[in-house]
Amino acid sequence: MESRREFMKTISAAGVVTVCGGLSVVFSGCSTVPRITPEKRENELILSQDAFIESNMIVVDQGLLKPPIFVHKTDAGDYSALLLSCTHKGCRPRVYQYSLDCPCHGSQFDFRGNVLEGPAERNLKSYPVSQDGSGNLLIRL
Ligand code: FES
Repeated sequence: MESRREFMKTISAAGVVTVCGGLSVVFSGCSTVPRITPEKRENELILSQDAFIESNMIVVDQGLLKPPIFVHKTDAGDYSALLLSCTHKGCRPRVYQYSLDCPCHGSQFDFRGNVLEGPAERNLKSYPVSQDGSGNLLIRL
């Protein structure tokens, strides 16, 4: 049986990347991963906690010229914010149900940004996440 990784390489090479849900795979383009444009303040992005009502992960746009930021909420209520720019050669990792996978050469990262599989050797860039008094999330850039 083909491994998940081999399967993903196969469908990526074929250009068939529109699979959602049914194969336990969620792409960032899929409607189950909300994509939002945050409020910006100097060196911070501000997200309403409501952004996590439908999903424990969201993709935050930073504008056309910057890679988006992936934000994940754990069951314990902790957040991680990761730049979706692969540390190997800068491609944009895609969001799957349990990992962030780079379509260019197969690197894989967990939702803390740690390298699970190379060729990338460095973890994804992460940003500190805090909350203000209203429960909004603050991502410090
Ligand atoms: S650019 Fe991501 S694995 Fe090479």
